Amino acid sequence: MDNNYDKIAPHYDTLSRLVFFKSQVNAQIDQLQYLPEKSNVLIVGGGTGWILEEIGKVYASGLKIVYIEISAKMIARSKKRDYRNNEVEFINLGIEEFENEFLYDVILTPFLFDNFVEQRAIQVFEKLNIYLKKDGLWFLVDFSLNKTNGNWWKWLILKSMYSFFKLLGIVEANKLINMEPFFLKAQYQIMAERLYYGGFIKATIFIK
Ligand SMILES: C[S@@+](CC[C@H](N)C(=O)[O-])C[C@H]1O[C@@H](n2cnc3c(N)ncnc32)[C@H](O)[C@@H]1O
Repeated sequence: MDNNYDKIAPHYDTLSRLVFFKSQVNAQIDQLQYLPEKSNVLIVGGGTGWILEEIGKVYASGLKIVYIEISAKMIARSKKRDYRNNEVEFINLGIEEFENEFLYDVILTPFLFDNFVEQRAIQVFEKLNIYLKKDGLWFLVDFSLNKTNGNWWKWLILKSMYSFFKLLGIVEANKLINMEPFFLKAQYQIMAERLYYGGFIKATIFIK
């Protein structure tokens, strides 16, 4: 199981909106106000690429974006998006395989880490941490469960999602890894944070 969304690429956005209305989308769109102009951006697990069109609405040009997706079908959809005059390099690889000497100003990982078992989450975090410049921004959006907002319905939705993806043989994870401690341990600071969908979705901007 490699967390490749090929099997549901044509239906992913519809499913997401069916369950979460536009919360997953809004959480990511709201973060774009923090995107510095003319920046070098790394997007990992961007899905169907709708985020590229939203980025194009914020800056019509000047951005250099590297877009990494393990799913070839997601990449094919993303390439058709209108990302205006920004430069986008599409790379059909798992982030684990991606090799690069370049440092980025901003990294986006929207709903990426919830796919991973802990070992992979740590491996990917450590790799991306190296790729982010000092003072760079990391836009993290993911599901959130903790003692203060861990309501029963959030557990239920999460369990159902993991069972559904397990049935399709897509996602390796069985439980959610809370990534925040890894960021804090690596000395990141929280620049902005916002909750959506009754606190089940958390969008955080970390600064390195
Ligand atoms: C839950 S979907 C989220 C898609 C998109 N970010 C959104 O919010 O609409 C996760 C995406 O990450 C991709 N993905 C999973 N593991 C990956 C990896 N190791 N490297 C790159 N992409 C990955 C999947 O193919 C899928 O498109």
